[in-house]
Amino acid sequence: MSTDTTPLDTSDLDAELDSAGLLDGATADLLFREARTAGAFTADEVTDAQLRAAYDLAKWGPTAMNVTPLRMLVVRTPEARARLAAHMNEGNRQRVLDAPVTLLLAADTRFHQHLPLLAPHRAEMVDRFEAMPQVREQMARNNAWLQAGYLIVALRAAGLAAGPMGGMDAAAIDADLLAGTGWVSLFVVNVGQAEGAQYPFPRAARLDWDQATRTL
Ligand SMILES: Cc1cc2nc3c(=O)[nH]c(=O)nc-3n(C[C@H](O)[C@H](O)[C@H](O)COP(=O)(O)O)c2cc1C
Repeated sequence: MSTDTTPLDTSDLDAELDSAGLLDGATADLLFREARTAGAFTADEVTDAQLRAAYDLAKWGPTAMNVTPLRMLVVRTPEARARLAAHMNEGNRQRVLDAPVTLLLAADTRFHQHLPLLAPHRAEMVDRFEAMPQVREQMARNNAWLQAGYLIVALRAAGLAAGPMGGMDAAAIDADLLAGTGWVSLFVVNVGQAEGAQYPFPRAARLDWDQATRTL
């Protein structure tokens, strides 16, 4: 495994992106290369308008049959954050209490109700999905996870930092905060302006192309 953490020389890549008329180097840094998982946040408020701006980008990411099952519980008040924090693993608890706002990301197992809008050419699937709860839940989870990735990048595009955390008692969260919704929780994302340069440790390496791919 590579342990090389020397900064990537992105000049060739930047030139390639620029010449292809794609995103410029500064945008690539903002969304990917310089964007870190945030562990601590300033006291700056995160407005609903900022969260909506991020969602309005993320919602365009593709999902199977356009089912778009990602749902979010915006956990904002101190009371709500304390309720969520009680179900987080100990190491993650204080971060939820301290964050300006936390998004509880969930998958809607009843996403098929929206198919007449989202997939009008497949509206007959509403009844078929109704009869297949296990297939539905798997499809909801898979596609909501995909959308969660789009959301993290969209939060960065909206000028926000994201601190995703999966260490939590998901079943307890579903029973407490999501009861009666048909939503199942995936993970939480603390959102705000990042405080401090480094999330508890320096940025770790990523696998490069040769390590992560095979070509047939
Ligand atoms: C789905 C998901 C779950 C995560 N769960 C936790 C967690 O429970 N606690 C934690 O401290 N960090 C958690 N992280 C943060 C990761 O460790 C971090 O994003 C990763 O190491 C990359 O860090 P970087 O963006 O600073 O390079 C999680 C990240 C993701 C995407």
